[in-house]
Amino acid sequence: MSYIPTPRQALEVLKKYNRDEFHIHHAKTVSAVMGSFAREYDPENEEFWKSVGMLHDIDFELYPDQHCVKALEILHDEDIDEDMIHAVVSHGYGICSDVAPEKFMEKVLFAVDELTGLIGAAALMRPTGISDMEAKSVMKKFKDKKFAAGCSREVISRGAEMLEMELKDLMDKTITAMRDNPVE
Ligand SMILES: [Fe+2]
Repeated sequence: MSYIPTPRQALEVLKKYNRDEFHIHHAKTVSAVMGSFAREYDPENEEFWKSVGMLHDIDFELYPDQHCVKALEILHDEDIDEDMIHAVVSHGYGICSDVAPEKFMEKVLFAVDELTGLIGAAALMRPTGISDMEAKSVMKKFKDKKFAAGCSREVISRGAEMLEMELKDLMDKTITAMRDNPVE
């Protein structure tokens, strides 16, 4: 029987497949940001959003070349809820998956996954970190293609489009979410 894991249970499942602190930290960050968006847009399902964030990259450490494909397999084996699996797989749409984000929650995941990386990297460059960071400084880093080149600007832009949100507003919300919900 499939089940909907709580964020804590999702973390336990994640840790079965991930040892790298960087990966676990990224999962917790995306989970926290998803929780913050859920409180604004879908408060009844905050836990669900958080667990999706926690599990979204579950296969990446062990199977980077089969990202989103192995996740499907692993999450089935772990008896994770189908809607949750759909959300996880859809975050690689157009990159490593042909499952499109449909729900608003899935679009948020798609958009914030790469954006949290860019914001985190930008915060490291500032003496005061994220504490007083504004969207305009992230926008500058966004335009500097050499900065944190691994964070796909195209995916972030597509995410904002899917959400029908201005890029700057998406950045604002994501910065606030990260600032108010620090991970460890
Ligand atoms: Fe991710």
